[in-house]
Amino acid sequence: MAEDVMEGLSSTHKYLSSKYFYDDEGSRLFQKIMALPEYYLTNCELEILQTQGQEIYNSLHFDGHFNVVELGAGDGSKTVELLKAFTQAGADFTYVPVDISEEAISFLQNKLSKNLPVVKTHPKVGDYFEMLEEIQSEHVPSLVLFLGSNIGNYPYTEAMELLLLIQKQLRAQDKLLIGYDLKKNPHTIAAAYNDTNGITRAFNMNLLTRFNRELGADFNLDQFEFYSHYNPETGAVKSYLVSLIKQEVYFNVLEKSFHFEKNELIYTELSRKYSLNEIEEMASKTGYSCTQHFQDKRNFFSDSLLCKETHS
Ligand code: AVI
Repeated sequence: MAEDVMEGLSSTHKYLSSKYFYDDEGSRLFQKIMALPEYYLTNCELEILQTQGQEIYNSLHFDGHFNVVELGAGDGSKTVELLKAFTQAGADFTYVPVDISEEAISFLQNKLSKNLPVVKTHPKVGDYFEMLEEIQSEHVPSLVLFLGSNIGNYPYTEAMELLLLIQKQLRAQDKLLIGYDLKKNPHTIAAAYNDTNGITRAFNMNLLTRFNRELGADFNLDQFEFYSHYNPETGAVKSYLVSLIKQEVYFNVLEKSFHFEKNELIYTELSRKYSLNEIEEMASKTGYSCTQHFQDKRNFFSDSLLCKETHS
């Protein structure tokens, strides 16, 4: 984290990685974001999984036992709906949630044993790709889940690398179900990242609190504000912290000060929105075929089912 902060704040256009949002307080704030009326993404995906779970299952064409491997399972609240639908359809599967947070995994396991005790669960704590490789050595087909528009937080090249890394781990009959937030009215998107209760603002400001605590920085939170912007031409929501005055911020751990000009930006997050064409193009460039889009009633969100392109 210290190295990343050093690099990001030394850059001409300052940036901080959004992966540092998720300390305990940040994870709590993200849960609050997901419950906000403006943050439509959660309910849209929940609607898809609740109402189309059976169709998703039918599209898998698995007969016999299979694994449902979820990358970045988090609290799994939406996935439970998909697992319920699979169970009702008579599917025989094992749910394998993968997360780097031990706490998230044990919370999820507790919740599942209460809400859906019939589902066999084999949680894995660790790096997505190491865990995926381990799971794929079993001779059972897999449905890999990467939900919640997490792909949108990766710049284009990294998103492509991620799709390719997953594709390399898939075997012929395996499938990937991936959540994409779709391009829509720009006001709707802008409001989702600038809520009236200031929760998204607090989520971003928490980065500074975290660096004060963990890297001995002396950010004065009153001297920064939050700004987010949606560009409908590129599909990018970009979030920033803005320095309200010319100031120096000292980091004890780095033994270094950083200078901020008045109105200088720190870029904190990309949340990319896609068209169905873009999803298909990215999928075909990374070795997937037969894309099927499961969308909510308003066509705000898509859980897209991709399968590995096989050349005979
Ligand atoms: C986790 N990720 C998909 C969220 C998003 O929509 O980009 C994180 C988030 N940032 C601000 N609000 C929510």
